[in-house]
This record gives sequence, C-alpha cells and structure tokens, in this order.
Amino acid sequence: MKKKSFGTAPNGQKACIYEIRWGEMSAWISDFGATLVRLYVPDSQGNVADVVLGYDSPRDYVKKGGYFGATVGRNANRVAGGKFTIGDKTVQMPANENGNNLHSGPDSYAYRLWTVEKHTENSIRFSLESPDGDQGMPGNAKIHVTYTLDHPGALHLTYDAISDQDTVFNLTNHAYFNMAGHDHPEKAMDQVLMLTARHYLPDDEQSIPLGENKSVEGTPMDFRQPKPIGRDIDQDYRCLKLQGGYDHCFEAFADPCAILTDPQSGRSMSVSTDCPGLQFYSGNFLSGEKGKDGVSYCYRGGVALETQFYPNSVNNPKWVQPFFKAGQRYHSETVYSFKW
Ligand code: BGC
Repeated sequence: MKKKSFGTAPNGQKACIYEIRWGEMSAWISDFGATLVRLYVPDSQGNVADVVLGYDSPRDYVKKGGYFGATVGRNANRVAGGKFTIGDKTVQMPANENGNNLHSGPDSYAYRLWTVEKHTENSIRFSLESPDGDQGMPGNAKIHVTYTLDHPGALHLTYDAISDQDTVFNLTNHAYFNMAGHDHPEKAMDQVLMLTARHYLPDDEQSIPLGENKSVEGTPMDFRQPKPIGRDIDQDYRCLKLQGGYDHCFEAFADPCAILTDPQSGRSMSVSTDCPGLQFYSGNFLSGEKGKDGVSYCYRGGVALETQFYPNSVNNPKWVQPFFKAGQRYHSETVYSFKW
C-alpha cells in the first residue's frame, strides 16, 4: 500500500492515507489533519505492533474526538480565556473549554485537509494555508509538517511555518502511544516511563498552569527513575486529583526527554525535541471509544507525550515565548526513536 482512500473529510473532500516505510517500520499518515493513523514497530521477537491509537475514518476523528495522532496548531494546549496580546493587538481565540482555549478551538487544523507536497518511500511533507484571523490568530500563515522514518528506527517530525504578521506558532503531534500495541489498552498504564524533567508545571482546576515550575522531587510527578505509569497515578496528590491523573507539562530540557517502554515485549520509544515542554497526558478522558480494528480504548488506554511550548506561555512572559515576527521562520523538530 502506498496510498489509499480514507473516506470523506468534513469539507466534503476525499481524504487519503499514505504509507511511509523504513526497514521493518511503517507509518500510515493521512492528509486529514496531517494525522498519524498507524505506526508499526517490531519487538525483539519480530512481532510487529501498531503503537498509536486511531480511528478508521475522518468522521470518527471528528465525532469521537481526542485529537488522536493529529497535528495541532496554530497553538497547542491551553490559553487562559483564549486571550493574549501580541504587540498592541489583543487576540481572542474561541473559548472551547471552560472559558479557555484548548488546541486552538473547534476549527482545528486536526480536522482540515492538508496538501501533500511530497511523498517518498520514507517521508511525507504536508502544507496548510492558515489565513489571517484563523482561530483568532493574526497573519496569513503557511505551515509545513514533514514525517520521516529513518535510521535507526526513528520517526522524525519537522514543523516549519511563516506568517506575514507577528503571530504564534506552537505546533505539536497529539499521538497516543501504547508500546504494547494499541489493541492492548489494558496494558497502557503498565508502560514504564522515564522523564528527565526536574520540574513540572502545577495547574488549576481548568488545567491552566499557575506560573511556577515546581520540583518533582519527592512527588508522584518524579519519573527520573523509570516507573510504571500506573504506580503513583492515583496517589492523593493535589495536581493528580485535579486532573484525574497525569495531564501536565514537564520541562523537556534533556535529550531524550522521555523513554516509554512496554515491559513485556521490550518495545521502547525515546523522545527528543527542541521544544521547552512535554505535555504528558495519561488518557484520563478516554472512555471506551471504538477505534481501529474494532478496539475499544478504555479509560487511560494510551498516553500522549506532546512536545510544545509551555501551556499558556503566551500569557507568561518569563517562559520561552511562541511569538514569531512577520517573516520570521518557525522551525521545530521532534524525534520518536524506537528500540526493540
Ligand atoms: C490535554 C488534555 C486533553 C487532551 C485531548 C491534551 O493535550 O492536555 O487535557 O483532554 O489533549 O483534548
């Protein structure tokens, strides 16, 4: 399979799935949302598993939600009140979650048909035109996302963008991973996670960071020694209680910033990025959505490791800022490397 139909996108256009390959690995990526739909990775016994959650059609992605594998932008994560200033301009984004903005609102890049600019054996490059005022954001923007499977078993994601006005660029991929295979959601919390982060960002009831970087030392947020995700997740710890599990931004200063392993098969993924933050979300809102291959994704049946600027950094000048000047190039890379 090199290319096949993926049904109809909400705008009535036909969506497709494209395959890219490297050695025993392959990925299925759709122009609908520039979405990673499947990612096949072997283990040491040669058993190949599809390690990302996904749906069978664009309609399911829109109806069932969760941004599985999607490219999220122009700004990933939350903005308090959906509001911020850029120069002398006030930007108002749609308030689509508790009066705040999540993942840039309902008219998501995740639900649009991207243009395929180049498709080779091991890579695919998409582009999207995002007009001035799109999601409330200033500037006509041209955005590119490239997926490449490459030596030594790595999925490279490269983001490039430029706008004709000062704007925000903070794109991410929203894949939910399960190194045991997406069809074993019951094993997702047994995955062993290492995060190099010494600090995480505590947040409020609405998942807006309070503004401090808090040490993980002596808390259930400490993953510097690898541990099963489920081990401390239900501890009586305020920020875990508030979010119903892990759904927090961790600093991503080290390389790798995360390693996720299925203890049974040994299949393992490490995450490298040039982004300052890593949103670790333990699938607390999953509730039996019927996905690919008839699999039901139970509560906490997959985990997202989203590389990005800190949430609400547009309103926190002391954090690294996602603002880009008119004509200034945004470039960001994240690599998911697999071992088996
Ligand atoms: C957020 C979660 C949210 C999920 C799906 C994640 O990036 O941190 O709170 O439920 O996206 O929208």
